[in-house]
Amino acid sequence: MKKLYFLLLISAFSLTVFAQSDENMGIIPVPASIKKNSGQFVLDKTVVLVSAEATNAKNADLLNAFIVSKGGFALRTEKALTKGQKAIVLTAVGADELPAEGYSINISTNEIKVVGKDAGLFYAIQSLMQLMPEKKNDKITIQAATIKDYPRFGYRGLHLDVARHFYPSSFVKKYIDRMAAYKLNTFHWHLTDDQGWRIEIKKYPKLTTIGASRNGTIVGNYPGTGGTDEVPYKGHYTQEEIKEVVAYAASKYITVVPEIEMPGHASAAIAAYPELSCFPERDTWVGENAPWSGTRKGKQVQQTWGVFDDVFVPSENTFKFLEGVLDEVITLFPSKYIHIGGDECPKAYWKESAFCQQLIKDLNLKDEHGLQSYFIQRMEKYLNAKGKSIIGWDEILEGGLAPNATVMSWRGVDGGIEAAKLNHDVIMTPGSMGLYFDHKSSASPDEPLTISGLQSGFSNYTKVYNYDPVPSVLPAEQKKFVRGVQGNVWTEYIESAEKVEYMILPKMLALSEIAWGQLDRKNLTNFTEERLPLHLAKLDGAGTNYWVPTPIGQTAGILNGKEHTISLKTPVAGAKIYYTLDNYRPTETGALYTTPFKVNVPEGKKKILKTVVITPSGKRSVVLETVLNNGATDVKTK
Ligand code: ACM
Repeated sequence: MKKLYFLLLISAFSLTVFAQSDENMGIIPVPASIKKNSGQFVLDKTVVLVSAEATNAKNADLLNAFIVSKGGFALRTEKALTKGQKAIVLTAVGADELPAEGYSINISTNEIKVVGKDAGLFYAIQSLMQLMPEKKNDKITIQAATIKDYPRFGYRGLHLDVARHFYPSSFVKKYIDRMAAYKLNTFHWHLTDDQGWRIEIKKYPKLTTIGASRNGTIVGNYPGTGGTDEVPYKGHYTQEEIKEVVAYAASKYITVVPEIEMPGHASAAIAAYPELSCFPERDTWVGENAPWSGTRKGKQVQQTWGVFDDVFVPSENTFKFLEGVLDEVITLFPSKYIHIGGDECPKAYWKESAFCQQLIKDLNLKDEHGLQSYFIQRMEKYLNAKGKSIIGWDEILEGGLAPNATVMSWRGVDGGIEAAKLNHDVIMTPGSMGLYFDHKSSASPDEPLTISGLQSGFSNYTKVYNYDPVPSVLPAEQKKFVRGVQGNVWTEYIESAEKVEYMILPKMLALSEIAWGQLDRKNLTNFTEERLPLHLAKLDGAGTNYWVPTPIGQTAGILNGKEHTISLKTPVAGAKIYYTLDNYRPTETGALYTTPFKVNVPEGKKKILKTVVITPSGKRSVVLETVLNNGATDVKTK
C-alpha cells in the first residue's frame, strides 16, 4: 500500500514537472502564442469564479467540475468581480475582436482572465484544464502566462466508419469527448456501406431490418483464405439515438457530417431493396466475390471487405429512394454538409446494363464516368435546393465535378490540388500522409491485424504530425480553398471500441496539432518529448486505450560502432522502459532503464538492444529492436 502511494506520488510529481517546464505549458494543440510571465496564480478554495454572461454558464460549470475533480474543491461563482478578490474571470467582452473560435487567457498572480465566446470560450477552458498541474497541499499552482489562440483551419475532422463494425452511441459520445478536448470540430459519421446500413430511415424500414445485418464476417486479412466466421453481425442507430448524438456533439461545438454512400458501396441498401440494382434478379455473390460459406442466393449484405460491382442503378426509382433517405437525414443533421460518398464505384454493371447505356446516350454523356458525374450532380442539386452542400471523395472529380461540391482528397493529395485549382473547397485526408488511422503505427509483429501493408503504408503520429495539409504546389490564391484536414478511421479490422482507441491515439493528438496549430508553431520534438508524455499519462489513468510509443531516443535498425551510448526517455510520463541485450524479449524481468549507459560491442560482433515501455496502467509498447553492430557479418542491412 505504501509502495502504491509512493508510486502515485511519483507519477503526480512527474506530470507536474512536465507541465510546468514545457514552453507550451502542456497544451495540445499548440496555442498560436504563449508567453510565460513571472509569478504564479495559486488556485485554492478561496478563489472565486466570475462569469457575468448567462451564455457562459455551461463553460463555467465545466471548469468548476474539473476543479472539483482535480483539486477536490468547488469555486464559489459570482456574476461580477469584487475588487481585490482573487478570481478566475470568464468574459465575452473583447471576444468579437478575436479570430473565429479564438480565445485569450491571461494568468497573473491575482487573476486568470479568460476572453472568448461560444466555441472560443469552450476551447479556452480545454486549454486551461490542460495546463493545470496536479494539486499539492490542496493548492494548484499555475505559472503566470499570456496565451492567445485561434485555429489554422475551420474544418478539423475525424471520421468513423460504423458500417464495417458497429459501435454503440455511448462509445460515439466518448469519441466526441476526445475530439472536443483536442479542439476538433467535425465528426464525419460513415453510416452506410456494403457491410451494413446503420441509420434508421422510417420511410424505408428494410434498410435496417435487412440492411443492418450480415450473416458473417471475413476472418483475417481480405481476401484471405479463412472464410467467414458465420456469426450474424448487426447494429444500427435509431433516429432518437442519432438526435441524441448530434445534440451531444453540438454541446461540444462539434458538427456531425453524415455520410450516405452512393452510387457505390451500396450492397446493404440493395440487399434491402433489390430494385436499386441494375440487375435485381442477380445474386450478390458471383464469381470471386463469393465468400466461402453461407447461403449464396439473392441479394446479400456483404461479409467480406473490398469493392463490389453491384452499385445503385441511376434510375428514377433510385433517385426517389435516395431523396427519401436524404429528406430524413436532413431533418436529423443540422450540418450544412452532407457527405454523399462517391468513391470506388465500379462501372462494370453500368457497362453491362442496357438501361444505363441507353441513359448515357439519352443524356448525351461521354461514358460511365459521365454517368457517375450526372448521378452526383443530381444529388447535389437536390441537396442544394434544401440549403445543404455536398462533400464527396475525390472520385467525384471524374467525369466533371458538381458545381458546388467540396472534395475530400483521400487517394493522395492530387485530388485536393485539382479541386482547389478549380476553385472548389477541399478537405485533405490522404492515406499516403498518415491520415488513414486504420493503418498500423509500426512494422512490429506485435501490432494487431490491420489493413496496412496491403494498401498505402503506415500511419503513425509522427507521420501525421509532419504533414502540412496545404500543398506547396498550389498558387497562393488557391491555397485558401484547403478548408481543413481529417483523419479517417475505416473499421474493417477494428472489431472493438478498445481497438478504435488503439488505432487513433496518439495520432488524433498529432492531427489536432496540424488542424488547429499554426504552421510556424509546429515542433515535433516539443510535442513528442514535452507534451505528449503528459497527455498519454492522463489517458492511461482515464481507462482509455492507446498505442504506447516506443522509447524516445531509440531508433529501429542498425547502429554501427564499437561503443554505443544508450540514452532514452519515456514517451509516457510515469512509464518505465525495460530492456535486454541478451536477445530475450524484454518484460518487467528485463533491466529497468534509469540513466544513460554505454554498451561495448567486441570486434566482429553485434548486440541487440530490445526495449519495451510499460505504462502505469500496465499497457505495453511494441518491442523495439536496435542492432548495435561492430562489424558482424550476419547483420542484414535493409
Ligand atoms: C475511401 O477510403 N474509400 C474513401
